[in-house]
Amino acid sequence: ATIYLKDYKEPDFLIKTVDLTVELGEADTIVTSRLDLARNNAAAKKLSLNGEYLELVSVAMDGRTLEAAEYEVDGKHLTLNIPAKTDGFHLDIKTRIKPQENTALEGLYKSSGNFCTQCEAQGFRRITYYLDRPDVMAVFTTTIIGDATRYPVMLSNGNLTAEKILSDGRKSVTWHDPHPKPAYLFALVAGDLAMVEDSFTTRSGRDIKLRIFVEKGNEDKCGHAMTSLKKSMKWDEEKYGREYDLDIFMIVAVSDFNMGAMENKGLNVFNSKYVLASPETATDADFDGIESVIAHEYFHNWTGNRITCRDWFQLTLKEGLTVFRDQQFSADMNSAAVQRIGDVQRLRAAQFPEDAGPLAHPIQPQSYVEINNFYTATVYEKGAEVIRMIHTLLGEEKFRKGMDLYFERHDGQAVTTEEFVSALEGGSGVDLTQFRRWYVTPGTPEITVNEKFDEKTGTYKLTLQQSNAKAGADFKPLHIPLRMGLLDENGKAIAFTEGPFKGKNSGVFDLTKKRETFTFAGLKSPPRASLFRGFSAPIKINQQMDDRDLAFFFAKDEDLFNRWDAGQRLANNIILKQIEKQDETAALPEAFMEAFADILADKDLDRAFTAAALTLPGEQDIAQKMPVVDVDAIHKVREGARRQIGLRFEEEWRRLYDECSCAAAPANQPESSSRKLKNTALTYLIATGKEDYVGLADRQYRASDNMTDSVAALSGLKDITHPVREALFADYYDKWQKDALVIDKWFMLQAMAVRASTIADVKALMDHPAFTLRNPNRMRSLIGAFASGNPVYFHERSGEGYRILSGVIAALNKTNPQIAARLVAPLGQWRRYDAERQGLMTAELEKILKLPDLSDHVYEMANKSLHN
Ligand code: ARG
Ligand code: ZN
Repeated sequence: ATIYLKDYKEPDFLIKTVDLTVELGEADTIVTSRLDLARNNAAAKKLSLNGEYLELVSVAMDGRTLEAAEYEVDGKHLTLNIPAKTDGFHLDIKTRIKPQENTALEGLYKSSGNFCTQCEAQGFRRITYYLDRPDVMAVFTTTIIGDATRYPVMLSNGNLTAEKILSDGRKSVTWHDPHPKPAYLFALVAGDLAMVEDSFTTRSGRDIKLRIFVEKGNEDKCGHAMTSLKKSMKWDEEKYGREYDLDIFMIVAVSDFNMGAMENKGLNVFNSKYVLASPETATDADFDGIESVIAHEYFHNWTGNRITCRDWFQLTLKEGLTVFRDQQFSADMNSAAVQRIGDVQRLRAAQFPEDAGPLAHPIQPQSYVEINNFYTATVYEKGAEVIRMIHTLLGEEKFRKGMDLYFERHDGQAVTTEEFVSALEGGSGVDLTQFRRWYVTPGTPEITVNEKFDEKTGTYKLTLQQSNAKAGADFKPLHIPLRMGLLDENGKAIAFTEGPFKGKNSGVFDLTKKRETFTFAGLKSPPRASLFRGFSAPIKINQQMDDRDLAFFFAKDEDLFNRWDAGQRLANNIILKQIEKQDETAALPEAFMEAFADILADKDLDRAFTAAALTLPGEQDIAQKMPVVDVDAIHKVREGARRQIGLRFEEEWRRLYDECSCAAAPANQPESSSRKLKNTALTYLIATGKEDYVGLADRQYRASDNMTDSVAALSGLKDITHPVREALFADYYDKWQKDALVIDKWFMLQAMAVRASTIADVKALMDHPAFTLRNPNRMRSLIGAFASGNPVYFHERSGEGYRILSGVIAALNKTNPQIAARLVAPLGQWRRYDAERQGLMTAELEKILKLPDLSDHVYEMANKSLHN
């Protein structure tokens, strides 16, 4: 059944307090809850509690056990009649559940012998009958009872209030969380876990215990997570004035987890991928991922927990805002330009295709079948861009005033995005009336640029026109911040001579109309406009620029993001032209080679920036610019270009490789930046096709003391068939087979290999003893990486790639529908391919729709993919 935002109604009853007792057992687990309820709607006659996959043992109202005839239970609800005069009452509900059989990893489940929970969005209803909706906020007291030897660690939200051994020998612990919260923020963990402890003193002088729980043996891999946590706590105090509000903050790492992590109040549960790291086992990218996810979950304590969502249509209220905050944090901790480039790369890779395809939705969807399908790149990443635009329009100071008012006005409440925008307006004094359209508009806006220069008057006219392919007839222009600057023909900034940015080199202009012209007077020669600096809006730009124009910005723009982006646009244009020519050996234009040479020679740049600037757009990025995607041509031409660049600058790459390997890096260059550039050089050297460089990768792998260099060596060799490649992959498996996260990389690299045996390799890997569909990380590292990261073989002509994916979807539909549904999106892109592939892809979607016991999750994704 489809659920609509317009149907939202306040709850008929509220829950004031919950007393939960969870008796953990090997055969089953018994959950007893006492709910203290209050009437919220005078007319309500029935109370309908959510509950799924539960066995109801008993229910009592105000102390009297109810007869079976006095309530109704179906697969989704427990419904009671409530007499009209009853205002406040309590219920005692006992249910039986089987966490050890829970493969969906929602609600209470077991992972590696430990109990843990995932309740967002609607997992709590798999634990007990409840009003499982975010606008019902209650104070939770949780008692956990279980075998003290099996489960010496027993955790829940809030502060520990009691701990004892019962007369039967079992252990009982009680946790109390004073902050009223929705059930989706509930968490429980029990197991034989190791703990790493630290502390943080808040700016008001309170001492907070910080504890990270991991499987035994992983204690030495928590340092980076702990440091990241402390940095996050400090940053939120300084940047947003937000202090932590309990005496203890806990993080638990689990190896079976559907998503990245979860912000449960005071007890964050993490996919171990985002906690565990040492230089030997984790790449620099893994370290960055940990820093940002730890920050993200911590920041949710204010943006998500203290102020939560009224209903799930408001998801971007907490997710868009919190992603924006974690991006700001990472930009402050690292190179801001490199961070921004990464943010935009992720947006373009995942969100742009979503927004252009059958699963497009506004950041605030208007309807859904299964809410778990809406934890999307649009709600998260585009949602973050929307907050960033508010930040850009308001400026730092007014944005902070708006946020202050938001926290002041809504602390302790479950609110809507409308209330958020109003608070930002109220606090800043800036009118966001038109800006609100971003929340309800699907599709990526396209901006077409027209420039005119009048030699006689020295006047430059810049005209921008908005359109949106998804908007159709009811197109309404959006309020778009345009950060821009003008350059003279030498690349020098031209200061604005009038208006609000007079004397400045860069300013933010408001685009509010469908077509808008900005006039700049007093210019001697036609200026060059650097538009949407820092990617000031999540749009596509349509601007006539030839190779020389783009090379100019690539070499000169003072805005590093636009400098990088000009290089990407240049490379994209060139590759698309080579594809048209059907000639991957045609020489790359000199303008491009020269621009490349300039960046290669510039030693002042952050090496991570240089690496990003010297990396060609990915195959999927190029694909987005083709009317009909030709995966084979893209791969061939892009590889041809890499080979030419490798050969042309062979000497420079060797020099860079040596310079960046040298331990004595310049002080302003983080080690990770040097590794990034060194490994970029390595891939170009391998691209020359010369045997020497296979040897170089071999030596790098064998000498490496860190996972970044090891993986880079393997990745550089993954596409070739060569004894060195086979030897290194075998060595890696041997060496790391006991470390799941490290072996995930082994599966992933092979899933992304582009070589004749790939399909057979992927099938063989699915039969590998270390492969299992039950562990989401392992599944994603092979199947997810293959379907989303290997366009050439996923789209292989025979359709075998599609069949592999739909087979996995069918299997997971039964065991873990949430994860199964996430795999459908690549098939949903079928309209982008040739007729033959379209036929093969839609055939798999049809097959999926005919699966017996099709879950709502998979149904919604496959149905929309086929018919929208
Ligand atoms: N709120 C979590 C985060 O963004 C994500 C949880 C999503 N879980 C789910 N089952 N959809 O940090
Ligand atoms: Zn989040």
